[in-house]
Amino acid sequence: MQLKNILCMGAGYVGGSTMAVIADKCPHLRIHVADINLDRIAQWNSERLPVYEPGLDDVVRRTRGRNLFFGELSPQVIAEADVIFVSVNTPTKTYGQGAGMAPDLQYWELSAREILAHATGETIVVEKSTVPVRTAEAIARILNTGNDERRFYILSNPEFLAEGTAMHDLEEPDRVLIGAEPTPEGQRAAEVLAEVYSHWVPRERILLTSVWSSELSKLVANAMLAQRVSSINAITALCENTGADVREISRAVGMDPRIGPRFLEAGVGFGGSCFRKDILNLAYLCEQFGLSQEGQYWKSVVDMNDRQISRFVRAVVESQFNTVAGKKLALLGFAFKPHTNDTRDSPAIRIATQLLAERAHLVISDPQALDNARQDLAGLEGEVAFEADPYRAVEGAHAAILITHWPEYIDLDYRKIYSVMVRPSFIFDGRSCLDHPALFELGFNVYPIGSPPLVHD
Ligand code: UDX
Ligand code: ADP
Repeated sequence: MQLKNILCMGAGYVGGSTMAVIADKCPHLRIHVADINLDRIAQWNSERLPVYEPGLDDVVRRTRGRNLFFGELSPQVIAEADVIFVSVNTPTKTYGQGAGMAPDLQYWELSAREILAHATGETIVVEKSTVPVRTAEAIARILNTGNDERRFYILSNPEFLAEGTAMHDLEEPDRVLIGAEPTPEGQRAAEVLAEVYSHWVPRERILLTSVWSSELSKLVANAMLAQRVSSINAITALCENTGADVREISRAVGMDPRIGPRFLEAGVGFGGSCFRKDILNLAYLCEQFGLSQEGQYWKSVVDMNDRQISRFVRAVVESQFNTVAGKKLALLGFAFKPHTNDTRDSPAIRIATQLLAERAHLVISDPQALDNARQDLAGLEGEVAFEADPYRAVEGAHAAILITHWPEYIDLDYRKIYSVMVRPSFIFDGRSCLDHPALFELGFNVYPIGSPPLVHD
């Protein structure tokens, strides 16, 4: 197959960023990114992209209108595409069988039916969204219902990019995984996709596996990363009670090369669009195969995360003489991690919701995520204000609660912050990233995660 035209269905964080990099690295290919959300498409075509991702603007500026096009999903772009990436959302089901655990595949199925309606000739369909194992099989069954000359080849090509570092992850991936059918045609299709990546990824980093292994690898990778975070978080309460410092423990443990230093930062817990969803998918899969203990094992990673968030909120309330009703509390950070405006499943949402239930008055601050924060908290009862400037956010607050470790929060002038807060003044370091003795010296009562609080008499 002579590859000329690529279509990506779904212009989200994954689809948009991945296609921008492919367009940049492969100027000979024409790439269309389509979405059913036309507002999103308009944003991709504007100066203000719908996702904040360091470095993405430059790549889009270089490629947009040259060989990268954002537009609506028309029969023509489907018909012309040799390869179609499907990068639509697969949220956790909120209804019916598997509610709260299984992925909702309605967008995926709709995409497959659109492809079936308009594709021509030979088409390679690439599964890019995280989907549970054996989705490709279901998609293949839908696509192969037509009894005509057309041919569809289904590949799994999971995305391992992390938000905030997506450009680096895409430009220098640790590995590119391509899952294909073990037939000669399946292997040929895998080669076509491998050839695209080989324009910038060393061949030895491109792994060819079966479709099922590839799909499952993505779930397992995310489950194991999240498990490390829950494991270190499971130590924090013990540290707070015994006087150990979890940061010292992470350092000591991470220097063992068998363990390694990454993903051992304790905090209020993990968020993001993938971890919770993928672990619940994995647990649901285990249960479907009668492996309830295995399912429970993975589910406990999420349970630990929920517990960490509730424990943090409880510490805030208890420190405020057991009531935060009517008290102004400033939340520093709302994104699920720094360098993104994404707030999906951010611990900040649960923390804000629980504090509002305690009738606290919240002021939310974040350098990039306030628009999303407004949407996340819309409809909740209680008093919430949004303020991009952290110095204004903390004016008259009883407590400053750091949730996202944006570098600018580490460098704030805490003397100035202390001067505008109510006394006694409290600071909760939900990421244990601040200088706790220095804050204590300034007069704050300091509550880190993973080491004992520093409290003035
Ligand atoms: C993750 C995977 O890393 C990526 O490979 C996959 O493609 C998508 O899911 P992402 O969700 O963007 O990426 O962010 P990641 O950096 O993995 O962080 C996830 C969450 O874990 C964040 O809320 C982060 O704050 C938290 N985390 C991470 C910790 O609390 N401690 C750590 O040590 C690391
Ligand atoms: P991710 O973070 O995985 O990229 P997002 O939710 O940001 O996920 O993006 C998924 C995108 O897919 C959304 O913009 C959504 O509108 C789009 N989408 C959903 N169904 C379809 C479809 N049938 N065709 C095209 N785009 C779709």
